[in-house]
Amino acid sequence: MQQHMDEPVVRLQGVTKRIGRRTIIDKLTLDVPQGEVFGFLGPNGSGKTTTIRMMVGLMKLTEGEIIVRGHRISSQFEQAIKHVGAIVENPEMYKYLSGYDNLLHYARMFPGVTKQRIDEVIELVGLKARIHDKVKTYSLGMRQRLGVAQAILHKPALLILDEPTNGLDPAGIRELRDYLRRLAVEENTSVFVSSHLLSEMELMCDRVAIIQAGKLIDIRQVHRSGSEPEAAQVAFEVDQASEAAQLLSDLEAVHQENRILVTADREQIARINARLVSAGIKVFSIRPLTKSLEDQFLEVTGGEQIV
Ligand SMILES: Nc1ncnc2c1ncn2[C@@H]1O[C@H](COP(=O)(O)OP(=O)(O)O)[C@@H](O)[C@H]1O
Ligand SMILES: [Mg+2]
Repeated sequence: MQQHMDEPVVRLQGVTKRIGRRTIIDKLTLDVPQGEVFGFLGPNGSGKTTTIRMMVGLMKLTEGEIIVRGHRISSQFEQAIKHVGAIVENPEMYKYLSGYDNLLHYARMFPGVTKQRIDEVIELVGLKARIHDKVKTYSLGMRQRLGVAQAILHKPALLILDEPTNGLDPAGIRELRDYLRRLAVEENTSVFVSSHLLSEMELMCDRVAIIQAGKLIDIRQVHRSGSEPEAAQVAFEVDQASEAAQLLSDLEAVHQENRILVTADREQIARINARLVSAGIKVFSIRPLTKSLEDQFLEVTGGEQIV
């Protein structure tokens, strides 16, 4: 499937859902590239499940289009859904069978799924030690892992999970995070995962979309330790602002009252500060002006969110 490297694995284009006179999803547009863990963050009732139900064909769109690997959900459903694995409602499982027998049973629906592939997914979700035990003895976290194993048996390009951390304990959440990351890195799978908890999304995802009342508010890159943080606008409060702006003209610094505004990443902020100080300019404060993901989400939820 190398020919698809550049196009997004899934594209939502002006996706709109109206039920009666209510607009539940309003012109949602976004792309998820291959191998990305994409977070879909919104408070309860913001439209996450509705969007996901449309993505997997459980609900029709009122307007817009969802395109998976170049195939439209509306007119080429079979071709589109082939590339999707999902857990939307509780996955169907036989409690009196072992996890392994469940996978074996499920694999029969997909020609081409080998025993080797079954072993691979068991390894990936970390169920090896318990796979021959009956599902009824599994914890919620283990059942979910089996659900994910089922969903990725056919090596979908896109895995969709609706609030997978609900009901998991902190250890379970951590394991989920780890194997979703492995899935993205080792199988190049795109993961579309929803949550109403910012803290989880920040740890789990490469990018996070914030939705509120069915509208996309923003899409943000998540800062990962060890990676280069994004440049943001920063205000330096100084004693000689016009001199400072001149000194930093190579960085297109803007002079505004007693401060200068400049776009800089973390390292650049430190260097700018050193330049100002060594030029004899006093720096009173350094403040980022770009809102953090948390600030933005708190605005959306009215500060009621407990994270
Ligand atoms: N079948 C439906 N009929 C009418 N309203 C619905 C239906 N499904 C969802 N809604 C409404 O759409 C909004 C979004 O719901 P939902 O997608 O479940 O949000 P989330 O998953 O983000 O909590 C809510 O206000 C909900 O009441
Ligand atoms: Mg929901």
